[in-house]
Amino acid sequence: MCGIVGAASSRNIVPVLVQGLQRLEYRGYDSCGVAVHAGGLTRTRTTSRVADLLTQVHDDQVEGLTGIAHTRWATHGAPVVHNAHPHFSYGPGEGPDSTKPPRVALVHNGIIENHEALRASLQARGYVFSSQTDTEVIAHLIDSHYDGDLFEAVKASVKQLHGAYAIAAICRDEPHRVIGARAGSPLILGVGADGTENFLASDAMALAGVTDQIVYLEEGDVVDLQPGKYWIVDRAHKPVARTVRTVQAHSGAAELGPYRHYMQKEIFEQPRAIGDTLEGVQGIVPELFDGVGQDGATGASAHRVFKAIDKVLILACGTSYYSGCAAKYWLEGIAKIPTQVEIASEYRYRDSVPDPKTLVVTITQSGETADTLAALKHARSLGMEHTLTICNVATSAMVRECKLAYITRAGVEIGVASTKAFTTQLAGLFLLTLALAQAKGRLSDADEARYLKEMRHLPVALQSVLALEPQLISWSEDFARKENALFLGRGLHYPIALEGALKLKEVTYIHAEAYAAGELKHGPLALVTSEMPVVAVAPNDALLEKLKSNLQEVRARGGVLYVLADRDTQIDSSEGIHVIRMPEHYGALSPLLHVVPLQLLAYHTACARGTDVDKPRNLAKSVTVE
Ligand code: M6R
Repeated sequence: MCGIVGAASSRNIVPVLVQGLQRLEYRGYDSCGVAVHAGGLTRTRTTSRVADLLTQVHDDQVEGLTGIAHTRWATHGAPVVHNAHPHFSYGPGEGPDSTKPPRVALVHNGIIENHEALRASLQARGYVFSSQTDTEVIAHLIDSHYDGDLFEAVKASVKQLHGAYAIAAICRDEPHRVIGARAGSPLILGVGADGTENFLASDAMALAGVTDQIVYLEEGDVVDLQPGKYWIVDRAHKPVARTVRTVQAHSGAAELGPYRHYMQKEIFEQPRAIGDTLEGVQGIVPELFDGVGQDGATGASAHRVFKAIDKVLILACGTSYYSGCAAKYWLEGIAKIPTQVEIASEYRYRDSVPDPKTLVVTITQSGETADTLAALKHARSLGMEHTLTICNVATSAMVRECKLAYITRAGVEIGVASTKAFTTQLAGLFLLTLALAQAKGRLSDADEARYLKEMRHLPVALQSVLALEPQLISWSEDFARKENALFLGRGLHYPIALEGALKLKEVTYIHAEAYAAGELKHGPLALVTSEMPVVAVAPNDALLEKLKSNLQEVRARGGVLYVLADRDTQIDSSEGIHVIRMPEHYGALSPLLHVVPLQLLAYHTACARGTDVDKPRNLAKSVTVE
């Protein structure tokens, strides 16, 4: 989703700004732009890729010591150049066609909910709008408060904003200053190495190689950046000192290696990612979930919390939600703890019955998903204070907001379609299940040893599943010609069917739906024809015979089946039934393995259809707006 980079420096900062945007490309965008102070304010914007922006600024010899840059993921207004950021304010009665130069340039990530009212009042005061965005309102608002001090103008403006924002602004009359502010959307401050420059960015990755000295701005902070100093005020506009952390961010962007796309690379990284995630797990101890967040929670508190709670509430979106759905089966089946899994964007707005003895578990790859953060805050506002996150980014807002955390070690995930983040979430959730079972006295030493042994086998097991790739390529040739697909699973593998359908639709644009196989005859069977491929996840578990009956129902209607069967499952390829045999039966950990062929199927079908695999249309990697 939108990405921001800003800099106040003593050197030409344009290359740093554009490289920063390149590092934020993975978040997803449909236009981009940069504005610098070069005597006056000048900007370059495009609906093309950041690489083209780089060519444009190079050809036009755009240079400046102070600047802001942005990748936009359209919310208000189409992805066209006049809606791209930075937005200018020329002052009342003036617009792009006037001879007066612009006074304020602004970039924004988030959604301003009262933009219509603000727009009307600014128009009444003579401000001329040249975009359909909510962002342009902020540029004019700052201009309307400007009286020689941009910091003061931003402080006055943010008081009038309702909604979520991270902003960066520069001003014609103050050539060495960048002002930033955040509430509800992420923004970090990068402290330059030699005291001659400071930076703003949406995340630390944008500043990889520029600085590793990072300040995570907090809700309501406003920051004044100049080349040799910075100044932060909190939401009450009182001066505040924020901790500078050393953050080793790396872009990962140069590491495609032998792979065609990041999605393929990330699918094949899963044995390593799971291995890293489980590294050092010698036994099931509550300390695995020690807080790394604001409260400096200790292992003792994880121990205390696990003993105190008697319910789990999981909050997440998208793929992370599906990992939560799978975990429910483990948490109730193994740890015997009642578990509720909620889509974050629904939970945050619905009436629910809170229970303070609940462990609220957020699952998020990025740790910045706006709906999941808001759902967490909502749960806390209802008195549920025991919070834990399963997250892939140790420095993210979510980790700072939760008392306890399990940091998965998937490594940076660039592909918009989540793959290795999903399987590492499942690994973290399985460990959480065992830790809770142990805290409740429901995990024998023998079971602990057996589960740990099975977990340690996962990297090897994943390698043998990845070796199935040629067979998935063969399936993908059939799928590439279809416009619809159905995915079926039962029990623990129903969420895997859901995830398989999500992967297919995200990267191939094929309409895919997943059902618990027992639901087939209650409606979706009406869709089954020879044109509707039906994928079935068929491990050799207690529900296999039931699933086989469901598959017969499909075959009887002429549906063509694509079955992921365990080695010891009596399902064979025949007319209208294509079977891929999984190398082993993996028991409770089976979801981590069965999802991999579905990832490969989606990936190769996308390649066959020629879609933009790593940056599917309309989607963003980091969903930082509601
Ligand atoms: O960063 P998060 O895990 O919180 O993101 C949640 C979803 O936006 C994300 O999983 C999305 O569904 C992926 N694109 C799925 O591949």
